[in-house]
Amino acid sequence: MVIIKTKNYEEMSARAANIIAAQVTMKPNCILGLATGSTPIGTYAKLVEKYNAGELDFAGVTSVNLDEYKGLPKENDQSYYYFMHDHLFSHINIDQRRTFLPDGTEPDAKKACEAYNDIIHSVGGIDLQLLGLGHNGHIGFNEPDDCFALETHCVDLTESTIKANQRFFASYDDVPKQAYTMGIKTILQAKKVVVVVSGADKAEAVYKSFFGPVTPQVPASILQLHPDCIVVADEAALSLVK
Ligand code: GLP
Repeated sequence: MVIIKTKNYEEMSARAANIIAAQVTMKPNCILGLATGSTPIGTYAKLVEKYNAGELDFAGVTSVNLDEYKGLPKENDQSYYYFMHDHLFSHINIDQRRTFLPDGTEPDAKKACEAYNDIIHSVGGIDLQLLGLGHNGHIGFNEPDDCFALETHCVDLTESTIKANQRFFASYDDVPKQAYTMGIKTILQAKKVVVVVSGADKAEAVYKSFFGPVTPQVPASILQLHPDCIVVADEAALSLVK
């Protein structure tokens, strides 16, 4: 595991965008695993800047996103579908037919998860997976559990995740309580993993995930076993690491 320490969020975003840009440059038809949440917004903004400057071409890129809320229509501004279009896909020349997310509008969880697994298998594996980190060490929506989930599955969000995400919704009741998420096995099979983390409120999650024991109670801790994982974190997020 490589840890890149940055001064602040801005520098974290620039560093992460450089790594993704290198991936797209070296393999123009790569498969990018993409993430949502507030942390990668700056990374996407930097990628859009590079695209506008003529430095990047996304025409051959395919993307698979980590997760989606169950029950939110695509046009809901809190759906991850909406987020990805808003922050990245509408601003670059990626072929939108090659951008995939779990279908949050499919009420049948088994069907939705199988369909998404089929997509992931058919694109042939992820070259670079971008990840944020939840306060409880979750990645995608893989919440603390007694075992690591393998492939796409439907999760009941934990109370802490629902509360953390409440700021984006009108009320607690409006926050979806379930989501479809890529599993840990799929994430671990990505050739390269890039985790972005910022802020003092993530310091404990960073410490437990990357310096504590590997346990499904801290899902991100499994990344310690990945052969090519880069954590790009700012000083505040690394404040508990001596
Ligand atoms: C959500 C997403 C995760 C993300 C996490 C942290 O739960 N499903 O993929 O990493 O939020 O979000 P933020 O970056 O806003 O702290």
